[in-house]
Order: sequence, then C-alpha cells, then structure tokens
Amino acid sequence: MKNIDSYTHLRGESIFVDDLMIRQDALIGLCFDAPKANGRIVQVDYSKAEAIEGVVRIFTYKDVLGENQIGGIIPDEPLWAEDEVHFWGQPIAFIVATSEAIAKKARVLIEIEIEEFPVITTAKEAKEKGSFINAPRSFNLGDTKSSFKDCDYVFEGETFSNGQEHLYLETQGCYVEPKENGDIKITSSTQGPTQVQKTAAKVLGIPMHKIEVDVTRLGGGFGGKEDQATPWAVMAAVAVQYLNRPVKYILNRHDDLRMTGKRHPYTSFFKIGLTKDLKIHAFEVEFLQNSGAAADLSPAIAERTLFHATNSYFIPNVQTTVYSCKTNLPPNTAFRGFGGPQGMFVIESAIAAAADNMGIDKSNIQECNLLVENNEFSYGQIATEVQAVKAWQTAKEKFNLEALQKETNNFNTVNFQTKKGISVMPIAFGISFTNTPMNHARALIHIYQDGSVGVSTGAVEMGQSVNTKMLQVAQDILGISADKLKLETTNTTRVANTSPTAASSTADLNGKAVEMACTNLIKRLQKIASNLLSKEPENISFSENFVWIDAKKTTLTWGEVIAQAMLERVSLSENAHYATPIINFDKTKEKGHPFAYHVYGTAITSVTLDCLHGTYEIDAVHIIHDFGKSMNLGIDIGQVEGALAQGIGWMTMEEIAYSSDGKLLSNALSTYKVPDIFSAAKKVTVLPLETEGNSMAIKKSKAVGEPPLMYGIGTYFAIQHAVKSFNKNHKLQFNAPFTPEKVLMSLYEK
Ligand code: MTE
Ligand code: HPA
Ligand code: MOS
Repeated sequence: MKNIDSYTHLRGESIFVDDLMIRQDALIGLCFDAPKANGRIVQVDYSKAEAIEGVVRIFTYKDVLGENQIGGIIPDEPLWAEDEVHFWGQPIAFIVATSEAIAKKARVLIEIEIEEFPVITTAKEAKEKGSFINAPRSFNLGDTKSSFKDCDYVFEGETFSNGQEHLYLETQGCYVEPKENGDIKITSSTQGPTQVQKTAAKVLGIPMHKIEVDVTRLGGGFGGKEDQATPWAVMAAVAVQYLNRPVKYILNRHDDLRMTGKRHPYTSFFKIGLTKDLKIHAFEVEFLQNSGAAADLSPAIAERTLFHATNSYFIPNVQTTVYSCKTNLPPNTAFRGFGGPQGMFVIESAIAAAADNMGIDKSNIQECNLLVENNEFSYGQIATEVQAVKAWQTAKEKFNLEALQKETNNFNTVNFQTKKGISVMPIAFGISFTNTPMNHARALIHIYQDGSVGVSTGAVEMGQSVNTKMLQVAQDILGISADKLKLETTNTTRVANTSPTAASSTADLNGKAVEMACTNLIKRLQKIASNLLSKEPENISFSENFVWIDAKKTTLTWGEVIAQAMLERVSLSENAHYATPIINFDKTKEKGHPFAYHVYGTAITSVTLDCLHGTYEIDAVHIIHDFGKSMNLGIDIGQVEGALAQGIGWMTMEEIAYSSDGKLLSNALSTYKVPDIFSAAKKVTVLPLETEGNSMAIKKSKAVGEPPLMYGIGTYFAIQHAVKSFNKNHKLQFNAPFTPEKVLMSLYEK
C-alpha cells in the first residue's frame, strides 16, 4: 500500500497545525525567554511591552491557577521561570497579541535584570561539581573487577558524542480554542497528546476531561515533540483560560532552535579487556549524560544508554554506570535512538581503540563477539531469535566484504592524497518502552451503516507512515478495500491515556489493538452472515468486500452484512486494548526482560577522503536489515534511509555549539550543517534479512523507526580508517561529529 498521505502531501493539501482555519477572534502567542543561562531574576519590566496597542496580555507564572510545573518524570521544570533561570531560552513570560508582528515588537521592549550565576555547559564540569538530575544507575553482569586480570589486552579511553538538533521541518506549535463551560480544545504538533492533556490540566488546575487534544499529523518529530511540544500548548491554554479567545502559537525557527532541547551530548570513559582469541572478556563504562537544566526524559534516556552499551555483542563481564548531569543547557530530550546511539558509539570506540592498539582490523573483533542464541544481556534478558551473526554474515557475503577490504587497502597503497576507509556496523536495538507500564495502546473502530469504516488509535502520524500501517492491518482483517477505510485524527476523547508515539513501538502497540478490535467485529459479522447464508460461522470469511464460504466467494456483500447488522441491532463499534505480554523490569535489581524483541542488522560503509582538504565523500552504505516480515517494504526502506542520513549527520557534520556562558551559537542553518543531497551516501543498498519474523511484532513486521539510525555510526569509523591510512601517527580520537576540520587536524597530527 502506498503511504495514504502521499496524495495530499504531493499536492500541498495535507493539514498541519499552522494550516488550520482559525477563528476570527484568534490571538497570537509569543514566548519571552531568558537572555542568560543561569541567574536570579532581579526584576522584569513589562510596562513598555504592555503599552503597545494590540498586546492583549502578558502571562507569567503568577497567572498559573494550578501548578507551574511541567516535569514529566521528575517535577523539576517550571512552565515559566519564577525567581531564577537555568538555561538560555527558558520561558519567562507569554505575550498574547492581535498579531505576530505586534507580539514580536512587544518582546524586545521587555526589560529584564538578571544577577548572573556561574554557568555549566559540559557534563564533565557538572560531574566535578556534583550537579546531577538524579542518582546514577548501573547495570552489571559477571564481575569486571576480577575479570580484567584474565585479559591479555586492556585498553582505556574517553569518548565524546555531541548533541543533535531535531530539525523537524514543521516547528513546534499549537492552536488552542475555548469551548463551553471552560472546556478547552488543543490542537498540537505533539507526539504525546495525553502528555499535553495531562500537563495542561495540572497547570490550569482543571480535570483532564475538560481538555481535548487533537493531532492531525506532524511535519516530523524525531523525539523532539515527545515531551517538548507540551509547554507551548500549555502556555496557550493558560491564555485561553483567562481570555476565552483562541490562541495560536507557532514557533519560528530561531526560537525553536534556541528554546528546545536536543539529543544529549555524552562524555564517556571506557575500559575494555580482551583475551588472545579476540573475545571481549570485560567492559566498563562511565557515561556522563549532559541532561541540561531539568530532567525532561533524561532518566529514561540514560537507562536506554545502559541497555545498549554492549550493542550487538555478548560480553560476559560488564559494568556500566550513567550519570545524568545537570547543566545550564536547555533540557535535552528524546531523539531517535533515545540514548541507544550514544551507548553504541562508546562500545564501537572501545573496539576501535583495541583493534588499533593490537594492529588488527576492527571487524575481526566485532565478528568474534556477536550475540548468539541464549546469550545474556547485562540487564538479564536472554537473547532469543538472535539475528546478529546471520545479518553480519549475509552482509559480508552479499556485499563481498573481503573484496571491498582488499580494494580499499590496494587503493590506499597506490594513492597518497586520497584514501579510502571502510567499516562494518552491526546493530541490536531493543523494542518496547523501557518503562514497562507504558507499553499499551487502544484502538476504536466504527463501522458506519454504509459499510465505510473509521479507525482511531493513539498513534501519531509524523512521517513514519504509521497511519498507512494501521490501515493495512484493518483492511487485512476486515477484508474490505482501502477506500472503505479512513484513519481519523489522534484525539484524546476517542482514544485516551495514550503513551507517546515513540520507542519505535507505535505500529506494534496500536496495530495489535486495531487487530484485536477488527477481529472482534469480524466475529460478530460472521454470525450475521452465517444466518443469512445458513452456514457455520467458522466457514465464513470476508475478503474483497464480499463474504466467502471456505475459499469460495459468495454474492453476499460487505455492505449487505452491515445493513443486516443494523437491523439486528448489533454493535458496529469496537474498542480494544493491547498491552505487550511477557515484558518486565525490576529497577531494584536492574534485571528483567524489558524488550518484546530486538532488531538486528549490519551496515558496511565505505568513504573516500581528500587528504588535502580533510573533506570526505561517503561512497556507499550497504545494509542488511532485519525487518522481520515487513508489511510494507517501501515504507520500511524509507525509514532505514532516513534514519541512516540522520545518523550520518550526527556522526559527521551536525555540530551543536554553545558559548561558555550557555548561548546557542549554532542557532541557524548557516552555522548548523545538516546532511543535504550532496553529503548523502552516493549509494545506499538496503536488503531485508530473511527471517521468520517475530510474533510480538505487528503482522510479524518488526519496528523500524529508530534502529537504522545507528548504522550511521559506521561512517565515523570508516573515516577514521581512512585518516589512519594517511597518518600512521594519528592517535585515534572518539570525538563526534568527525567534521572535516577535525579530520584535517588528525591528518597532519605529528
Ligand atoms: N520518521 C519520520 N518521517 N518522521 C519522524 O518524526 N520519528 C522517528 C521514527 N521515524 C520519525 C520517523 C522516531 S524518533 C520514532 S520513535 C519512530 O519513528 C516513531 O514512530 P513508530 O513508533 O511508528 O516507528
Ligand atoms: N523510548 C522512547 N521514548 C520513551 C521511552 C523509550 O524507551 N520511554 C519513555 N519514553
Ligand atoms: Mo522516538 S526518540 O522514541 O520519539
């Protein structure tokens, strides 16, 4: 099935928040945010701003009737700053005016005096000063203390991976309308409608049932709208509560870049021990997560870093600890991979360091340590249906790794100013929210009396095509043509208490609920058809808009059965609830079975480096990916390609920079480089790994949203390989992104 949005997308007719028809009396909101990263607010003078004609009101924390608190996991983040500010860009007030131009004019007239405190921008500094979000966490397996003694080689090192800007095409935004009796309708570009509803209710001091949140679709989220779409919607809702007029707030790109958190930068310290046969025997890491000024999702992201600290390798002795370090950056947040990529970068760095010191190819160590059936992860889950070796071997054979390696080495012997590099990147990514209670979803299906069907779920469409997958599931079970089905908006009054669209689990969770709801409806319709045809219900099925008996099509149509159901007063609506079975996790022991399954794959990346300029081209990325039994290969390959580009951007060019006093310097696309078509890999091959699929996945089609981002990590090591081929003196560094500037320095390092 084609992406069901493709028609309206192509014609520019798809509706995003900013496209909504707004009420004639609607007002425009604009945030006034902290112009310093840390300090005490001595005073703010709004008088000049308020005096401008068209400024309706300026809201601050003093106007909050409920709680001035938006922290999701830890209540440590005010909606609007009270006495202090802790990051540059922290919301202080909300200007509501008759136009955006007026609001902007007012904003520059607000005068603020801040008594500045020292600013922390790095995780290292925060750790030294004991500035943390919460207590550190550790996952342990075996005993690293004693096992390093049994190693023939032990290496230690430090790594850094920088943050990453989500750069969703559609910036953050919302449109909020008053309804009768103080009820409020929020349309938000959010991955978490329930989070918006819950937080708005708390801040406004009203029950959740008075707030309806609706989401049509997002122009990209990538994790950046899992938690951080909430504040804007809540601010506008507070204004609506007072003014009883609609308020719209769409952030402009500069404001969005400055005020929102990003992928977490991590500084990490590793120690890796190997035996002569290249087995990794022991591995220790201390992760310092730069969490920013408030928790946001940092604790959950830190946890996922630990879950993926050994990537797709089995290591019998592991000790990993993560510190969520409180700094004066905007609270960093979910970003595709959710801490997993940061963890995987460290183990890959450790392997690279070991290989370099031992004078062997990195892939020799990787291949020796791949997970096999019944291996134990550091968190206690036993690996089953493991595809690590199969994915590696298939990639090795299909893409002729040995020949590629030989060619690369030959090329490097005869060429001086140009060098090639190659790397292999295996992945294993756990599917499920790591917080077990979040793994649930519901679907509400209405069959209308003309036989057309409306499907509501908790899934948010953000370009990943989850709606198309939901439609495929419903179509398949109901046996009707796609034109009879419609995916409704995501709305908290139809499907309540939803988990955010995240963790790559949306299609699985919501799809299973759709499957259950449709199956229940079909059972009812089978009985009706059975009466009409005088056959047993078991023999009746629905396909191509007709009723079938055994494998034979009858003349009885879907529409006729629906009409009969109406006459017999049989319910044509169904609400189903799905909660992932089996999964569990005991935080007191840090052990359990948190993931429904893992997604595997292997990427082979080759690059060509211009050693005069330090610039490089990615010649090819060849991928073998474990889709399970993909229900829509077109969509799924699209996800792999997009995630790969995003992973490559993170590893090679996207360089977030803050000044030492906490101001975002890379605050526009002129100073923050994202991959474009010229920096994309010249060739990308994505081949599905043939497997039986996994029954915990919807239609055995595995989750695909996040795992392939980590193929991008391979690019870092391919470039490193090329650098090392040019400059034998280069001491490996693990400092991502590996920008051309850094490459050039490495090439001529003495
Ligand atoms: N693809 C597009 N086009 N746009 C997005 O915002 N988000 C990614 C991924 N793919 C995203 C995307 C992230 S971070 C996640 S968690 C998954 O999609 C979420 O959707 P899923 O659970 O349906 O895979
Ligand atoms: N992944 C993504 N988002 C989340 C998770 C997770 O594991 N937990 C809470 N939000
Ligand atoms: Mo994705 S980072 O789980 O929204």
